[in-house]
Amino acid sequence: MTTAVEATSAAGASIGRVVDLDLSGAWCIDPSTGRQGAADLVVTDGVIASLTWLEAGDGGATDDQGLVVAPGFIDLHAHLREPGNEGAETIASGLAAAAHGGFTTVCAMPNTTPPIDRAAMVAAARAAAAASGSPVTLLAYGAATLGRAGEQLAPLGELADAGVVGFSDDGSPVHRAELFRNALAYAGMLGLPIVDHPENLDLTAGAEANDGLAATVLGLKGWPGAAESSAVARDLALLAEVVQDVPSARLHLTHLSTAASIEHVRRAKTAGLPVTCDVTPHHLALTDEWLAGARRWAWEALDADGRARDPWRDAALVAAPYDSALRVNPPLRSPVDARACLAGLLDGTIDAFATDHAPHTEVDKDVEFGLAKPGIAGIETALGVLLELVDAGLVPLARLVEALTTGPARALGVGGNPGFAAGSLADLVVFDRTDRWLVDAASLRTRGHGNPLSGRQLPGRVLLTVAGGRLAFEAPEAG
Ligand code: DOR
Repeated sequence: MTTAVEATSAAGASIGRVVDLDLSGAWCIDPSTGRQGAADLVVTDGVIASLTWLEAGDGGATDDQGLVVAPGFIDLHAHLREPGNEGAETIASGLAAAAHGGFTTVCAMPNTTPPIDRAAMVAAARAAAAASGSPVTLLAYGAATLGRAGEQLAPLGELADAGVVGFSDDGSPVHRAELFRNALAYAGMLGLPIVDHPENLDLTAGAEANDGLAATVLGLKGWPGAAESSAVARDLALLAEVVQDVPSARLHLTHLSTAASIEHVRRAKTAGLPVTCDVTPHHLALTDEWLAGARRWAWEALDADGRARDPWRDAALVAAPYDSALRVNPPLRSPVDARACLAGLLDGTIDAFATDHAPHTEVDKDVEFGLAKPGIAGIETALGVLLELVDAGLVPLARLVEALTTGPARALGVGGNPGFAAGSLADLVVFDRTDRWLVDAASLRTRGHGNPLSGRQLPGRVLLTVAGGRLAFEAPEAG
């Protein structure tokens, strides 16, 4: 079997050029049909010319292939910081980072400075994306409340007309329940979801780290899981009422991190409520023991009975404590919560991965733990972290791809129909899942500082990202 990436355009390796591609024998995963296997894929003038499966059935569905082709990933949650904090990220640098991570569609959160709460700001974000030359699709959320101040609704109709894909005050919840209820109803009438950051602010003032052993030992102020699950429960209770009057109301809960939150959503879905949710790679794979200096994956920190192991007793602390790169909202949780997120992914309670790519400048990040801005700029390391779950035998590769493509597409109606339909524009990522790469400042495109995986080797080097038929990223050695 020959396996080759041949980007054969004569125009050279410039970003944005229309791609011709002849991939023979790579492992293709098509979540739109549920099929995977070795295949030949031909792209001509940016359009899928043919996909020819080399074996009958699902090709044995083995996960141990090297070169993998999947539809381009869709990120439901990224912070691109423009306008207002271009030292941390610009739309151009964020889209370059996305392409390096295999993402071809990025939904940008509106917590910029000022926040994206008017149509003109949506247009400015689009113009910056176009000016960047990146073919990665930028989709925008509008703020749910004016100025994200949580006092009155943003002009939702104006923002909808401007093409936003939903409304969110992410970074903050919509704290006032009555306002949240109205936001759900009005957004629903416009056919758009509310994307809520579930956090009960009454429980998180000054909070620094997941309320647990690590926070106690490190002297960090605890951030209870109930701060999230009680907000989830409130949101769902309001949704249940709002859909009586506005059946088109929809709620998407982002970056869920606790077992109790997942269980609330599971029940709500069973009851037929129009709710979807996502989880970040870091909440699946990293845990609060990392704050103390552990560096084992979440699933390695559980004992045979599914209880969290004690990293002190295990002598598992290998790094310095208080790494501010690990400060994130919601905080890294316990291994038991991470396992519950995994269970939610496997049973379909969780619809999608979302990176919550949250870049910060060095001055905002490289400071004392409790003073650091929360956020992990993880859009480039998402695939590698998630492949660690596949390599550990915890998630089938096809489910991983689904939750990066059709999952987010269906949850929020964004990104079209990810797949390889002949005649459609090529939108895909090629990665070598056996090729490990070193995460360091030189390898990353984001301007954001402080990736907690820095210095680690991750599996799944992205070789090529094609968005809308155009080159979005090509690894230097793959050309
Ligand atoms: O860690 C986070 N960072 N969580 C959020 O909800 C907001 C984000 C940011 O904007 O930095």
